[in-house]
Amino acid sequence: MTGKITKDYTLSIIGCGVMGQALLSAIYNAPKATNEELASFYPSKIITCNHDQKSTDQVLKLLETYGESPNGIKVECSFDENEKAVKDSEVIILATKPYLVESILTPLKPILQNKQQVIISIVAGWTIESLCQYSRKVSRVMTNTPAKFGYGCAVVSHSSEVDSVEKALVKELISKVGSYVELPEKNMDAATALVGSGPAFVLLILESLMESGIKMGIPLKESKECAIKVLEGTAKMVEITGEHPSVLKHQVCTPGGTTIAGLCVMEDKGVKSGIIRGVEEACNVASKLGKKK
Ligand SMILES: NC(=O)c1ccc[n+]([C@@H]2O[C@H](COP(=O)([O-])OP(=O)(O)OC[C@H]3O[C@@H](n4cnc5c(N)ncnc54)[C@H](OP(=O)(O)O)[C@@H]3O)[C@@H](O)[C@H]2O)c1
Repeated sequence: MTGKITKDYTLSIIGCGVMGQALLSAIYNAPKATNEELASFYPSKIITCNHDQKSTDQVLKLLETYGESPNGIKVECSFDENEKAVKDSEVIILATKPYLVESILTPLKPILQNKQQVIISIVAGWTIESLCQYSRKVSRVMTNTPAKFGYGCAVVSHSSEVDSVEKALVKELISKVGSYVELPEKNMDAATALVGSGPAFVLLILESLMESGIKMGIPLKESKECAIKVLEGTAKMVEITGEHPSVLKHQVCTPGGTTIAGLCVMEDKGVKSGIIRGVEEACNVASKLGKKK
């Protein structure tokens, strides 16, 4: 049997922790597919694979909060049964910690090499080449924690053996975390920094805005609400207008006014270059993680 994807195929999630559950949630709860081709991209069954009973119970608890899947997906939760799950699956989502990948995939290698299933890997630092020793069909994904709420961003690169139908399937499933961007793998370390670590950088900015309100006497709750809306509203404004941020920034700057005064101090303090250099440093660290393999 090959890993050819049929209409009623099975998908396994190996490592159903924080990110595995985010993907499970996004795929299981995806709105009903609008045509037959898209419907065929949804598995009829998802098998979640964990290491022990305790983490499997967490997945079962999460499933209790869901209604029926709009695309009719059934879920089977397992632990310590990776081999059986992989044997029964046509598509595999790999979502374990990077240091465990080798020990998890090595015993599965004969099955993977035989079936050549599509491996959708969200594991940081594991390159397409390093995963191709198990199956030649690899889609490497970098996503982030807002994916848990449907506001994630996923950057995706494929190995050359992933065909156009499989690419469309990966896009349909993974885009459910929020947004989907396809890039060559050479951009993956930068995507790890910008997308994967990005929420921590934005939270630093959010925290700073919030604390500025508190410092000037606005209570914590209201400072937090204002800071969240400023970030959310500004991002939406850039998205809706399609304008470059600097154009919109200058529209807020009245000559001799408050905004330009604030911006000048921030430029003096190196806020912009600090952010750029910080993201670049995260990218440098990501590239070293990849080379450890
Ligand atoms: N968290 C993020 O913000 C983020 C963002 C982007 C990408 N990633 C990537 O996502 C991956 C997962 O991260 P995470 O934060 O979701 O980790 P996590 O919460 O620790 O989840 C990993 C899961 O793997 C399971 N596992 C361990 N050994 C296993 C085995 N032998 N067979 C099957 N499952 C096993 C664990 O189950 P047990 O508890 O039973 O051991 C756990 O549920 C990482 O590679 C990371 O690079 C994470």
